[in-house]
This record gives sequence, structure tokens and C-alpha cells, in this order.
Amino acid sequence: MSSDDDTGSSGTPAPSATWGGRFRQALDEVALRYSASVDVDRRLAPQDIRGSLAHVRMLAAQGVLPAADAETIAKGLEAVAARIERGEMRWDPAREDVHMNVEGTLAEDIGPVAGKLHTGRSRNDQVATDMRLWVRDAIDGTVARTERFLAVLAVRAAGTVDVLLPGYTHLQRAQPVRLAHHLLAWAEMLRRDRGRLLDARRRLNRSPLGAAALAGTTFPLDRDATAKVLGFDGPLRNSLDAVADRDFLVEALAALANQAVHLSRISEELVLWSTQEFGFVQMSDAFTTGSSIMPQKKNPDMAELARGKTGRVVGDLVNLLVMLKGLPLAYNRDMQEDKAPVFDAFDTVDDTLDVLTGCVATARFAPEQMRAALRDGFLDATELADWLAARGVPFRDAHHVVGRLVGIAHAAGKVLAELPLETLRAEHEAFDASVFEALDMEAAVERRDLPGGPARTRVDVALQELRAFLGEAGVDVDAAAASCGAEARP
Ligand code: ARG
Repeated sequence: MSSDDDTGSSGTPAPSATWGGRFRQALDEVALRYSASVDVDRRLAPQDIRGSLAHVRMLAAQGVLPAADAETIAKGLEAVAARIERGEMRWDPAREDVHMNVEGTLAEDIGPVAGKLHTGRSRNDQVATDMRLWVRDAIDGTVARTERFLAVLAVRAAGTVDVLLPGYTHLQRAQPVRLAHHLLAWAEMLRRDRGRLLDARRRLNRSPLGAAALAGTTFPLDRDATAKVLGFDGPLRNSLDAVADRDFLVEALAALANQAVHLSRISEELVLWSTQEFGFVQMSDAFTTGSSIMPQKKNPDMAELARGKTGRVVGDLVNLLVMLKGLPLAYNRDMQEDKAPVFDAFDTVDDTLDVLTGCVATARFAPEQMRAALRDGFLDATELADWLAARGVPFRDAHHVVGRLVGIAHAAGKVLAELPLETLRAEHEAFDASVFEALDMEAAVERRDLPGGPARTRVDVALQELRAFLGEAGVDVDAAAASCGAEARP
């Protein structure tokens, strides 16, 4: 702990190196450790320097700073950026955060002129700008990874249109579908995730610069110019709001939490499908692990971890919401705590996307096992009921009749197609021999010929649509899929 001794041997108080005149004591050591954020927020350095360059060039253009000073500062900032890039930056926790580290290093390099950089700016609008820039870049990265996963799904789906498997409700075999249709359902989930991220991006793309601490500044800043240089659509409208809100982070993390839940559900299906009980998929050795004690084991750890890490991302969102709740306008130091959850959520979802993309790209599906699963479970019961309903029997009655037939077949250890016609007719006289054609699984899928359905032509349309969508997004589907080892085969 610090004490009065910290005033130094001369008896004159040592002013805080950071905060200057107002302070007569250095920050307590524990307080410094508690409040320093540079270990976390140094990730913002590239964005921080981009923002500073935009700011200082604008200051010169507005005549707030002499052009020569701005030039010196800009060159100095670029040198600091290069040093960071080379991994040679000396990060100093005593300088608290990324902003003070960059500025402090700049001052060591170019001298007192560095102090002019912060004219008309506060760390409040600075950090808000940094976070918007960082999240914008991060969203672009997550969107690109999502698109690569979609490309893999498009290719794997193209190779599995002929593969039939049970669709499930309540995890009970329900009705037959095409494997491609199932993979395309995953694609729909991921497309919405992508859309939500891009929605958040659109709304966050406004510049806080010029809001300064909370009430703007007396200098004639050109907020439009800095916004434009940084690729923002324009400045935020209200200076208090510009530094006070982090709703853009909440939106991004809500999108990520949603996506993490989707990835978890996909993972869960991979885990289930790779059990001996299902046997629908063989995951590649590259994405499974063995057991240290049971030599026969091949565990789907990557999918399990993807499922398990979902809690982190949901937690990150909750963390952020709780941190913000109850904060008065404008900036509060609480908000420094926004960084860890935001970085963690993006890191986790990005890694999960990469690992699941690899799992799905390289997995071997098992068409025989899937087909075998279609045989048991009376997946054709709906076909039989629909057959009667199509012949004028009220569907509720047809449902009842077929329910009785399922009971009869079950008791006899048979499937519906093995029941003699007389047995069917004993339950309802509308049955005739043509009913057995309805019990073919392929035919059952083909009759589900509606937009969004599993019939072949509908799946082909969905595949083309997905490819067109990805093409419009600038994705080379085949190249992206091939880069992950995905082929159009089961
Ligand atoms: N490290 C701080 C943060 O991330 C920067 C802003 C500090 N502003 C202040 N008024 N103390 O929130």
C-alpha cells in the first residue's frame, strides 16, 4: 500500500506521472492493478491508432494544429503501430490502458509534441470509437467464417440429396427426409446468424469521435471528416449517447449467443449421430480423440467442446447486460469491463466455427445406417393416414385407423408394409392394393413436394438458391469448401 512516504525523500509530493497537477500521490499499487486494463485492451491498438491518425489529420486540416506537428505525430503513430506489429512494444500496466500506452510511447519517441494529439478528444470518445472499429472488423471475420461453413454445407448437401434418413421430433423417428435437406436446415440457421451480425454492423457504424468526454469540445472539429476516414456512415447524433452506450456490443453479442446456440445444436446432432446407437456419421480422425484407457474409443470431443463453450458466449452477453444496467449517463468506468466479454465471445464463436466447419467438411455420413433406421419406427404411418385422407376419410379418423394398424404390426413384430391387405381392410374398407406404393420411403419423401420440403426438386432449388446467395456475397463456394477438405459425397 502507498503511504505518505510516497511523496519522495525530498519532501515534495511526487505528482502522478499520468494525471499531472491535480494529483499529489501516485495511484495505490492495488488500485493500479485493479484498474489497469492494458493486458486486455491492447488488442485495440490497431483501431486506436487508426482513430488517432484520423483525429490528428483532421486537427491539422481544421487549423487546430500546425501541419508540421500533425505530421510528426502521424509519423510517430505509424512507427508505434509498426513496433506493435513486430511484437516489440513495451506494454506498461502503470500506463493503465492501451490509449495511455500508445500515447506514452509516442511521447518517448517524438517528445512533448505528442501531447497535442489529445486536443479536442477524450479517452471516452476514443475508446468508444476503438470498440466500434474493433467490432466492425470482428463481425467481418465472423461473417467470413460463417460463409465458409455455409459453403461446406452447400457442397456436402449437394452430395447427399440421394441419402434418406429419419427426421425426428421428440428425438423419436418421425418422417423420412433427405440428408441434404437436414444439412440445408443447418445452413438456414447460419444464414440468419450472418444476417443478425450484419444488422448489428449496420447500426454500429457511426462515429463517436468529437463527443470528447461527454459534451463535445470547443475546438472546431470536423466530425464528418473523421467519420468518413474511418469508414463510418457518419457521426453519432448525440455526444452523451456517443460515449455512454454500449448497446452495439449487446447487439453483437446477442447475435453471437444466438449463433453459439445454433452451433451447439449442430454439435449435439454430430455427437448423437456418431454414437454406435445412431451410427449415422463417422467423424474424421483429425477431429476426434481417443481414450487413455479404452482403446476402442473415438470421441467427438470437438463437437462436445463446441456445445460446452456455448455457455461462455451466453455468459459474455449476460455479463455485458448486467454491467450496463443502472449506469447513469454518460461514461462510467464500469464500461472498461466491456472488453473481456466482447473479445471472448468473438474468439469463442470464431474458433467454434472453424472447428465445426472442419468436422462437417471431413465427416463421413453412413447412408446404409440411415436407411436402416427408416425401416423401424413406422415412419410410413403418416403416409398411410394421408392415403386414407386423400380418399375422403377425415384425417382424424384415418389417424385413428393407422394407429390401430401400428399397434397390430408392433405386436406382430412387423412393419406396416408387411401387413396383409386383409388386415388393413379389416380396419378400413377404403384400403386397396395400391396402398403399398405409398409405403415406399423414397416415394414418401417425393410426395412432400412443397416449397421448403424434402422432395428432390425442392432440395435442388434450395441448393441452387444457397449457392446463388453465397455467390452474391462474393464466396467461391467450391474453393471455400475444398479448402476445408469438403467433397460432394456422403
Ligand atoms: N480504459 C478505459 C475504458 O476502457 C478508457 C476510458 C477511460 N475514461 C475515463 N474517463 N477514465 O473504459
